Amino acid sequence: MRHPMTFALAAAAMLAVLSGNVLADKFEGRKKCSSCHKSQAESWGSTAHAKAMDSLKPKTKAAAKTKAKLDPNKDYTKDKDCVGCHVDGFNKEGGYTLADPNKFTAAVGCESCHGPGSKYRGMHRKSGADFEKSKKTAPRQGLADAGQDFHFEESCNACHLNYEGSGWKGVKKPYTPFTPQVDKKYTFDFKKYVRDSKAMHEHYKLDGTFVGEPMFMFHKDFQAVAKVGEKGSDD
Ligand code: HEC
Ligand code: HEC
Ligand code: HEC
Ligand code: HEC
Repeated sequence: MRHPMTFALAAAAMLAVLSGNVLADKFEGRKKCSSCHKSQAESWGSTAHAKAMDSLKPKTKAAAKTKAKLDPNKDYTKDKDCVGCHVDGFNKEGGYTLADPNKFTAAVGCESCHGPGSKYRGMHRKSGADFEKSKKTAPRQGLADAGQDFHFEESCNACHLNYEGSGWKGVKKPYTPFTPQVDKKYTFDFKKYVRDSKAMHEHYKLDGTFVGEPMFMFHKDFQAVAKVGEKGSDD
């Protein structure tokens, strides 16, 4: 063979593409994120998203359910028409399933907004260590290529605007029962809601390990008023 390396490189590249696609979509559960991002995890714990599974239990949110023509005495925690929007990665690789419910993917957690993390979280670890050692920064683009979401809006829409007539192009059953027709307060306004740190989590100061685009549209606003948080490690 004249160029044995060419074949080896091509095979390696192909493998990288194949495994890259698989890995980019794998959910891991919030335990992995929370061990490093302690402050965000603790703050998230008191949001409505963190309690989303409780709302599916009988006798919870009875008035809201009745108004939306649901049965307040019914247990909806195993109902496939409900669970999908109250957990992480329903029926996706590594995500929540009814057959194998995992407490770290129950509720609307980190990966529902930031993207399935099996691939990018390893980059956080490595880049974080490099930055600590020598202040070497890393491009956000690498994280985006590994499946981290820096735009959020489409992920939110998939749960909040998934009902007939919402105008969102991805609409498909099962729909959310809580629409503006039921009560105006269920009208989803991305730019307003995403600024609500009581619904996302409080924001904490980053050291600046990751740089460049894609950067979330309110990243600088959030960081300008961010608190000093507590970090951790996953080992
Ligand atoms: C081994 C520890 C570790 C794990 C596990 C980890 N991260 Fe990170 N993450 C970091 C470090 C370090 C940074 C850089 C922080 C800085 O610059 O101050 C970071 C940065 C981030 C950022 C900010 C990126 C930006 O725009 O600058 C987000 C969002 C984030 N992590 C979310 C997550 C989520 C979600 C998970 C779970 C899927 C996760 N992380 C898992 C250590 C970790
Ligand atoms: C996996 C589905 C899902 C995703 C993704 C999601 N949400 Fe939610 N969201 C919910 C559910 C379910 C609730 C209600 C939780 C409960 O009370 O049981 C909720 C509640 C909220 C609330 C609180 C409403 C209130 O009445 O206080 C806000 C604000 C919100 N979401 C904004 C967002 C934004 C902004 C995004 C994207 C960055 C987002 N959500 C992503 C499912 C989702
Ligand atoms: C397409 C996604 C989706 C599906 C399917 C879905 N939900 Fe939700 N659910 C949401 C979102 C988004 C919210 C938050 C609405 C808001 O506050 O603006 C929510 C909120 C709720 C709330 C809290 C309402 C309140 O006023 O506090 C309850 C209870 C609830 N859902 C129960 C259910 C039940 C029961 C089912 C199945 C019959 C179901 N959901 C199916 C997305 C969904
Ligand atoms: C409902 C959506 C949502 C959920 C759930 C969520 N986040 Fe975030 N997160 C955001 C948004 C929006 C930002 C702002 C992004 C930016 O400024 O670049 C953010 C920013 C961050 C940052 C950057 C520093 C900061 O505090 O702003 C880290 C780290 C982070 N989130 C970790 C987590 C972890 C860990 C979890 C789960 C315990 C989690 N997030 C759950 C929406 C969410």
